[in-house]
This record gives sequence, C-alpha cells and structure tokens, in this order.
Amino acid sequence: MLVKTYGSAIEGINAILITIEVNISGGTGFHLVGLADNAVKESQTRIISALLNNDLHYPKLRIVVNMAPADIKKEGSAYDLPIAIGMLAASGQLNCDDISEYMIMGELSLDGGIKRIKGALPMAIKARDAGLKRLIVPMENAKEAAVVEGIDVFGMKHLKDVIDLINDESDARPFDVDLKEQFLTLTNNYPFDFEDVKGQENIKRALEIAASGGHNLIMIGPPGSGKTMLAKRLPSILPPMGLNEALETTKIHSVAGILKENISLVSERPFRSPHHTISDAGLVGGGTYPQPGEISLAQNGVLFLDELPEFKRTVLEVMRQPMEDRVVTISRARVTVNFPASFMLIASMNPCPCGYYNDPSKECVCSPGIVKSYLNKISGPLMDRIDLHVEVTPVPFKDLAISPKGEKSNFIRNRVIEARKAQEIRFDGRKDIFCNAQMTSKDIDKYCELNEDGLNLLKRAMERLNLSARAFDRIKKVSRTIADLDNSPGIKSYHIAEAIQYRSLDRESWGS
Ligand SMILES: Nc1ncnc2c1ncn2[C@@H]1O[C@H](COP(=O)(O)OP(=O)(O)OP(=O)(O)O)[C@@H](O)[C@H]1O
Ligand SMILES: [Mg+2]
Ligand SMILES: [Zn+2]
Repeated sequence: MLVKTYGSAIEGINAILITIEVNISGGTGFHLVGLADNAVKESQTRIISALLNNDLHYPKLRIVVNMAPADIKKEGSAYDLPIAIGMLAASGQLNCDDISEYMIMGELSLDGGIKRIKGALPMAIKARDAGLKRLIVPMENAKEAAVVEGIDVFGMKHLKDVIDLINDESDARPFDVDLKEQFLTLTNNYPFDFEDVKGQENIKRALEIAASGGHNLIMIGPPGSGKTMLAKRLPSILPPMGLNEALETTKIHSVAGILKENISLVSERPFRSPHHTISDAGLVGGGTYPQPGEISLAQNGVLFLDELPEFKRTVLEVMRQPMEDRVVTISRARVTVNFPASFMLIASMNPCPCGYYNDPSKECVCSPGIVKSYLNKISGPLMDRIDLHVEVTPVPFKDLAISPKGEKSNFIRNRVIEARKAQEIRFDGRKDIFCNAQMTSKDIDKYCELNEDGLNLLKRAMERLNLSARAFDRIKKVSRTIADLDNSPGIKSYHIAEAIQYRSLDRESWGS
C-alpha cells in the first residue's frame, strides 16, 4: 500500500516542504530514494529497533521510501519519525486516513523515545503555509513550534503516543502558546543591570551613545578594569525587541538548535561572546549543511569579541562583508543560503601585551614598537567599522567599596529609545538604514551638516591630536547621535567636542 505524509528540510533559516511516500509491496528490501544523507539512511536501523521494542511489526516486504523534491538534500536523523509512521500506515498498523494532513518530524531512539530536532519554528511556519492541519514534533520542540498560529502543534515524547494520536485514541491537546503574553512577560528581564557598575560614568555614556546610534564600540583597558562587566550590560539598554525582531532571532536560534526547552520566543536581545579560538565557520556560519554562526546568533543583539587581538586575523577578516551587508551568504555546490547578521559589535582589548599601557597605577613594560604592533594586529578595515573607542581605567579598589550604585539600565534605555525615535523620523521610508551608524558618506553629508564653529573645531582637533582622515566621518556620525540624545536638530560644537574624545586609537601618537 502507498501512503503519503510530510516532513521538512531546513535551508538557511527557512523550511522546505518534503513529501514522504512509503510504499510496501511484494518482495524484500528497504529502498530510500531522494537524496538522503547517511544519517537518514541509518534511520532504518533505528526504526527497526523502535518498532520491535514496542511490539510493533517491521514489514518483511519490499519497502520503498521516496522523499521529494529529489534535488533538496535531506539531512540528519529527524526523518526517523515520519518514515516510521509511514511504514506503520502502509503496513496497516495505523489508521492512515488523514496522515497526509500532518507534518511529522522527530528523531527516534532505539526504545521509541522521540528526541529533539533543529528548526522546529520554521517548520511550523512552513507546515501552516502549506495548508497542513497538524504538526507533530518532539515534546522538547513543541513550545517553539507552537508560537505559529493557524496549525495544531503536538509535542510527543514517544512513538506510541504518536500512534495513539493518529489513531484518534489520544487525549493529547495541541500546544497553546499565547504569543503576545509570552512576549510581554519575557521582555526586558535582563540578568545584568548597569546599576551594578560603580563609577565609569564616561564609559557608560559611550555605551549609551553606542546603543542610541547602533554604533560599534571598542573598550581598551587593563585586566580587571570592568570591560566584560560593562559589555554584558549593553543589551539591557538597547530598545526592546519588536515582535518581528523576536521572531527573526528565534528562527535563527531554532535552526541552530540552541533554544532552551521552556522558551518559545527569544524576546531579549541576544548577547553572544564567542571565545577567541573560534573558527571562521563558527563565527560567520558554514558547514556542509550551512548552519548560522555567532554573527547570526547575535541577530538584533550584541556580538562581544573579548580580547580582540587574540582572535585569528583571518577570522576577523571574514566578518567584514557581513558587517557591511548585515547578512552573510554561504555558498555550497547545491545551494546558497543567507543568514541575517545585523548586530552591534562590542570589542575589548588590553592596550598592550602586558596590559598596563596608560594605566595610572601600574607601569607598562612594553616598548612603544610593541604597543603599536599589538594594536596593528586588528586589521584596518575592521577598525574602520568601529565608531567609538573608549579607554577604561579601573575604579580603585577602595572606591569600589564606598561608591553608590549606578543609574539603573531602565533609565538609560528610556533615553536611548528617545534618540532612536529621532532617527526613525530622519530615515523614515528608507529600508536600507534605520540608525545613524549605518549612514554612508552621502548620508553623512546630508544629515550631519556642521556649522562654521563646529567645522573649525573639528579641523583644529584633527591637527592637534593628529587624527587620521578616517576619523573625520566617524566623528560626524557619532556627533549626530550625541545631538539626537540631546534632542537637538542641529549638531553643535559641544556635540563634536564629545565625539572627538571617542577616537583614542586614531591618534598617531598611540603607543609612543
Ligand atoms: N566599576 C566597577 N563596579 C563594580 N565592580 C567592578 C567594577 N570594575 C570591576 N569590577 C569588578 O571586577 C571584576 C572584573 O571585571 P571584568 O572581568 O569586567 O574586567 P575586564 O576588564 O574584563 O578584565 P580582563 O581584561 O581581565 O578580562 C568584575 O566582575 C567586578 O566584580
Ligand atoms: Mg574581560
Ligand atoms: Zn604593556
């Protein structure tokens, strides 16, 4: 007998509908056709065990499983369950009347348990859009799939449960997730708050500016000065995620299989901090079946590269294009996929190999040449994409004990939100740009006009501080954001004066 059900393959962050046909006829043998990889081919072994361990019957006939479309590569073990269900239906062990109204995905363990899969959220979207009525996924994936409205999502733990459900002998109810409620209760529950950071007002101010204009930022300071502590708190002052942003980030995390079991929606901005030993593929994405990298997992949030000079230069180089385009493209022989990669880069570094260059309390033992070459480990093009440089000096230990608490993140975030509103109006109707950091030179000419005083100030500073030419546009952009925080339509001299302070690494005198 021939039966048909549905599964799904993931390409990039989207799912593709896969038809799974199982035909059982006279003869013997198991034949799997339709571009399946080895893990799918091994499903036969797992299915046989799962069936026999549950007093089910493995048909000793000719079994043909056809997965279509044939030009899409089928990967992994998540097809175990639909194939097993297809076999049971085709051999009359299961009521197959409406099995073609299901999408079924899940990996089987040898005892018939159902193990979690990757990409359940995009699969649910696909199943709904394809007009299917019911989706069966592993219990651990049910919450993430159930955010999709318009399809009944069932989370299942065991093959037997699935059989009961399809035979209509089950009291299992579809998972119900109230998206809006989930979204509201989870939002803005950040574990780290700026109130824990004592002193460091200038650094917090720089982070507030970065958050307001979407600027990338690097912190330079000795060990223990609080760089990591400060960076971790940045997501708490970014504007709250919108529902669409949250869904987009959740989709990427779903495909990567890193969603926590009890979470149906990532509603807090991600903070990703990969170790400096990370590979190219780990950072930007890759693999035979392309998987998102850290820059995509940081979508709509923060990518924190701690100890930037320790990263391999080639790894940092591969980030350049995605940072420009806010999307990363991975090409393979059969397929090209895009992963979104819109994130804020926050980097930290020691100022020199010993860590204490410019430190007021401890002497640096590095020669000027060594300090310069340490900085040069970071490629120019990457540095070019970092608008704000701040030097972090440690708060002396005795002051840490007596200093009052800092301002709460919530208050800072409210100012950030106001500054973003000014940018929304400025870039209204444009799809390519939504914050000041994304302005091109043409935009800078248009939106960052300086009056004569401002221009003179900037020129004098460039000469006096020996700032490099590339600093010029960066300072104008950052001044624009500072003016937005000040609710000022025009850029004033004191906005520029502040922006100039955030170009430490541009000074040609750095290291000498
Ligand atoms: N301004 C501060 N307010 C409160 N605690 C602080 C402050 N600065 C540092 N600390 C304390 O010192 C610890 C070390 O800071 P952190 O790890 O952020 O330093 P770092 O600059 O990242 O150092 P490294 O270069 O070694 O990574 C923090 O976890 C915190 O407990
Ligand atoms: Mg650190
Ligand atoms: Zn040093």
